[in-house]
Amino acid sequence: MAPPTRLTSYADWSPRPRLGSMCGIVGYVGPKQAQNVVIDGLRRLEYRGYDSAGVALVVDGQISFDKRAGKLANLEKAIAERPLPASTTGIGHTRWATHGGPTDANAHPHLGQTGRVAMVHNGIIENFATLRARLEMAGHELRSETDTEVAAHILEAELDKFGDLTSAMQAACRQLEGAFTLVAVDAQDPTKVVAARRNSPLVVGLGDGENFLGSDVAAFIEHTRDALELGQDQVVTITRDAVEVTTFDGAPAQGRRYHVDWDLSAAEKDGFDWFMRKEIFEQPRAIADALLGRHAQDGRLQLDEVRMSDDELRTIDKIIIVACGTAFYAGLVAKYAIEHWTRIPCEVELSHEFRYRDPILTRSTLVVAVSQSGETADTLMAIRHAREQRAKVLAICNTNGSTIPRESDAVIYTHAGPEIGVASTKGFMTQLVAAYLLGLYLAQVRGTMYGEEIGAVIRELGEAPDQVQRLLDEAPAISDLAADMREARSVLFLGRHVGFPVALEGALKLKELAYIHAEGFAAGELKHGPIALIEEGLPVFCVVPPGGRGQLRDKMISAIQEVRARGARTIVLAEDGDEAIAAYADVVVRLPKVSTLLQPLVAVVPLQLFACELASLMGHDVDQPRNLAKSVTVE
Ligand code: G6P
Repeated sequence: MAPPTRLTSYADWSPRPRLGSMCGIVGYVGPKQAQNVVIDGLRRLEYRGYDSAGVALVVDGQISFDKRAGKLANLEKAIAERPLPASTTGIGHTRWATHGGPTDANAHPHLGQTGRVAMVHNGIIENFATLRARLEMAGHELRSETDTEVAAHILEAELDKFGDLTSAMQAACRQLEGAFTLVAVDAQDPTKVVAARRNSPLVVGLGDGENFLGSDVAAFIEHTRDALELGQDQVVTITRDAVEVTTFDGAPAQGRRYHVDWDLSAAEKDGFDWFMRKEIFEQPRAIADALLGRHAQDGRLQLDEVRMSDDELRTIDKIIIVACGTAFYAGLVAKYAIEHWTRIPCEVELSHEFRYRDPILTRSTLVVAVSQSGETADTLMAIRHAREQRAKVLAICNTNGSTIPRESDAVIYTHAGPEIGVASTKGFMTQLVAAYLLGLYLAQVRGTMYGEEIGAVIRELGEAPDQVQRLLDEAPAISDLAADMREARSVLFLGRHVGFPVALEGALKLKELAYIHAEGFAAGELKHGPIALIEEGLPVFCVVPPGGRGQLRDKMISAIQEVRARGARTIVLAEDGDEAIAAYADVVVRLPKVSTLLQPLVAVVPLQLFACELASLMGHDVDQPRNLAKSVTVE
């Protein structure tokens, strides 16, 4: 196996923050058949989303398009049966649904009111509900549930005013909030494709007599390796021979030109050696996306799909969280937050155990299913059982339109984008965010927290992307630590309170990826048995609670002393400013200062990096560990 590339910082190749949910977008203008270039590009971007796909071409003053739910192969089959007319100007999209399920109608491209413009979009337009209401008042007929179609209608209205797609795009973008990359064509102008970006990725491929647009260079790498990365809030117009960049206000601007020397497989991973490492580094964006669009117009918190009334939510007297694997550990964290904020008793149970123990379920029980894939059979069976007993079910899920959310009464989508690495990282991180949002939402509905208190937690969550980024910037230090521990055959993880599930997750990651014995313990339990495992030189990761809850921190220190006294090598994760901790640590890993309940968001990052790095050094396939599957659809 090739040695791992040590590309551990976004800063090397991309401006930050790089937000916006997944989805792949492509644009082309040049001498070739646009549909071939676009479909080939989409195939390279399919890892970014694969629940529906579409293409639009400019043909004799009209937009010709096709779009299909399901994998790109469905679209390809449809086009093979009913070919689109020849055209040299086109756009395409492969979708990871956010607003609206993965259906033909919701697939991109979306057209304007009269069908003059076609648009594809990656991201979430936060003020879409307001804009949609405004359009409907003005008589616009919207055919899908997407935020994208709203943007397409606005763009077309602006095009009627300005007569030129570039000016229209600038004007449309000035009305949009949130994260978006938009790419559009005008039926009446086959010479150009216009795109814009805010908080979502977009690169231009610079060809000879042809130019390309893509979510990343994988979209066009077979045609050109010269690229131009756009800055924040910029509009770009490509024609066969020119690329023009402006701000949203129309002022001239410039992108950053660079040459790509990666091969295709590296390009799909944005230059990272593993999808898992890429996904670890995507976490700042994923957290930001998971938080996007959570505010209703009145400032109150809102979730994605809640087919339950506030009254029903107020009658809930017990919550049972069901999940497997990493999602189960996210559930354990959720329990601490939900009980603290809502005072509703909350149990967490492995899905496969839950169903067969005859759990006590009533109409006022809320079962929360946490699942990245939304297809885990054990969890699916658990919610079916819960619903048969008349309990309500809420899903925390990353896959729009998957079975678990479809069979639930309410959904919080985690908006992390597709997770390809088998070991979950950004999936876990965004499950935590969603769990916090659920706790706060229930507290809001039931009045167990003041609006201001909820706002304060939300603000703190809003700081998490930067805090996680800071930890990622320290990745080389974790690599050194892993290199130092290559010979370890057993590693323990200790935590207290929400640090306990973090310890479990740290251990699971090592088991999954490095295939070595690893266990997580609640630090307080150590003296009741596990301490017998401690021997000279055994590495023990210790997650130290923030100082705010002094007692917790001090109790953790006692545990650290107990293992050190018996020869363990302690790798201590402690918050900035906790200088006294150094006396108990062989290695200190610094965590940003956060409140106790939110600490898992930061504490898990070094553990993910450590597992990824150690497994790489051991020569294992990090993305596809032996014996594991990403989504286990059998019981
Ligand atoms: C499998 C994967 C785990 C994952 C678990 C739950 O076992 O290997 O990484 O945590 O399933 O998956 P879900 O999609 O339900 O979150």
